[in-house]
Amino acid sequence: MKDSQKQRPSDDLDAAAAAIREGRLVVFPTETVYGLGADALNAEAVASIFAAKGRPADNPLIVHVAGVEQATPLVRELPDVARKLFEEFSPGPLTLVLPASERVPRVVTAGLATVAIRVPAHDLARELLLACRRPIAAPSANRSGEPSPTTVEMARRSLGERVSVYLDGGPCRVGLESTVISVDTGGVVMLRPGAIAVDDVRRVLPGVAVEIASGGGDRPASPGMKHRHYQPRARVVAVTEDVSVENLRAALAACGAHGRGDERTKCMLMGMEGPVTGVAGALTRLGEFAVASVHAPGSLERYARGLYAWFHEADEARMDAIVAVLPPADGMGTAIRDRLVRSSSIVLDESGRERLS
Ligand code: TXA
Ligand code: MG
Repeated sequence: MKDSQKQRPSDDLDAAAAAIREGRLVVFPTETVYGLGADALNAEAVASIFAAKGRPADNPLIVHVAGVEQATPLVRELPDVARKLFEEFSPGPLTLVLPASERVPRVVTAGLATVAIRVPAHDLARELLLACRRPIAAPSANRSGEPSPTTVEMARRSLGERVSVYLDGGPCRVGLESTVISVDTGGVVMLRPGAIAVDDVRRVLPGVAVEIASGGGDRPASPGMKHRHYQPRARVVAVTEDVSVENLRAALAACGAHGRGDERTKCMLMGMEGPVTGVAGALTRLGEFAVASVHAPGSLERYARGLYAWFHEADEARMDAIVAVLPPADGMGTAIRDRLVRSSSIVLDESGRERLS
């Protein structure tokens, strides 16, 4: 193809905006992860998101808007607390669960009386929202159960021909899904940790009780919390930096990470620079494991940004196991731990107890 015939980004954007208006699916970048978008006011288009992802119908979607004004018709009210949070953190990696207006199709909210609203910060997401002049319902752009995509290639490999237009905005800056907070019934509850930490939220809302949802159970606060998530094909074992050789061996054996005949089990190791070294030593001492690659980010932000791409890389390289060292539960560390625990077959955390999922 000659250069002059190559699609320019503005052509892609026009095609994507047209696709949204015509009820088709578009993959677009956000600062957190790539989204699989459709016109939020078109119930049929939204239903096709669920079909393309293989997503359970009881898991509601986030509606993306260009600015808080575009959300006004979608909510019954915007409590002061919500207004403050949007003012402080939007556009950005924050999703607020608010009372839904009757304009929001039931398929978006999975029949709940609330709707999740987010103003993404990525330029291309914003341009798409402005160009199509519609709110866009979008979950992460992966088949249900897989890790979220942080590059357009990851999304394409997961969803292929099910999508009309793929918009490439480069690798996502944050790398983990947005913080989800419910401000529905007066109380403020953090449903999913993300780049905006609970301490950031408390700082903006002095005197307001901000709870953290416990997750799981029969009636989870956020329907998404009961579904399996973020899982690569390789078995993930999450450990602390001081894990013993014996515990590591037992965990890897228990999750069935072996099984390539006489070859040594191939594994990926990830964790903060420093803490990862001790675990690398333990793995080497195990002998039967070949550490095929190591990711040792120097900051929590880099850990978050790399996590899903490394999961993806492990699967491409047909690794048997991923050993992930849990970061401290602080700031972004809380969100990384949350995703690691959800993707793990076994967690050996500070409590010393082994958790199987
Ligand atoms: O960063 C993100 O949030 C990305 C990008 C594309 O914006 N989106 C994303 O969407 O991660 P998804 O569908 O993978 O996760 C949305 C989460 C789910 O856990 C869902 O259950 C919860 O938000 N959620 C959506 N609407 C809700 C509601 N009305 N009440 C409670 N939880 C809700
Ligand atoms: Mg998702």
